[in-house]
Amino acid sequence: MSYRILITEPIVDSVIEKLEEHYEVVVGTRGQYSDEETLVQAIPEFDALLPMLSCPVTERVLRAGSRLKIVANHAVGYNNIDVEAARQEGVKVANTPGVLSESSADCAMALMLAVARKIVDAQQFLYDGKFDGWDPLAFLGMELNDKTLGIFGMGRIGTAVARRARAFGMHITYHNRSRVDEETEQKLEAEFIPELDTLVEQADVLSLNCPLTDETHHAIDAGMLERMPDHALLINTARGPVVDEAALAEALHNGTIGGAGLDVFEEEPEVHPDLLSAPNCVLTPHIASATHETRKAIGMLAANAIIGVLEGTPDEEIPNLIQD
Ligand code: DGY
Repeated sequence: MSYRILITEPIVDSVIEKLEEHYEVVVGTRGQYSDEETLVQAIPEFDALLPMLSCPVTERVLRAGSRLKIVANHAVGYNNIDVEAARQEGVKVANTPGVLSESSADCAMALMLAVARKIVDAQQFLYDGKFDGWDPLAFLGMELNDKTLGIFGMGRIGTAVARRARAFGMHITYHNRSRVDEETEQKLEAEFIPELDTLVEQADVLSLNCPLTDETHHAIDAGMLERMPDHALLINTARGPVVDEAALAEALHNGTIGGAGLDVFEEEPEVHPDLLSAPNCVLTPHIASATHETRKAIGMLAANAIIGVLEGTPDEEIPNLIQD
């Protein structure tokens, strides 16, 4: 009997073709499986699931997957999967670490520069036909050189952001569950800040690069926003719920902080209406990993985990299985 794989919506063709070489593959339509009930109904027919980060792979879904052997998320973040329920059901879980660090860090820098230098507002001004010649006082922004970047979450992506920021002359501070190795700290001249409050108070730019967990949910709330200097910028390419979005919108409107660059939102695809009208905000639709190179690599890594598990490769030889 051939194994059946569900890819919840279209992804890069070469990844689908790779899985089709081995198995029967069903590809959903865009957004088809973003609700729990549709997944619960479909899953009994499949041996492997390759979901998007918007698919809720809940306990119900996992229990309904009577022949399910692996869920290989098309993302590094896997807060959409109930990993404990998967363990109980004997279903392996994989994510895609490593392959999207550079593209995600590029996106964090792009947002940082766009907000600091008011690029989007300036472009709109020009498109609106308002450009009447060089203006010594127009669109004055913040220079990144010599500013302090606070990175919350110094994993692969946070480290890649730090490398880029160093090239822009920034000082690196970071808060993480544990300290990074000495060599990395030295290379980046990065200072470990044991308390998140202190990191937030000292940063001119705060970049969120942590996973979404119970501990990081709303880690940046009204109180933390209050601690940020009033010129400081918040960059979030991690997960929306790390920030209390309503509190952030209020802080931006009140001038409590200087601006924000956000690629992720609390209730995607919804965006808090007060954010849409907030000043000094650059908002993008969760595109941090959206490069041709990265999206192919993400798909291939997920596909390889599926092939590995279905073909009986020992867990230790499948580098992206989640073991925690
Ligand atoms: C991920 O992989 O978790 C990213 O959010 C995708 O952009």
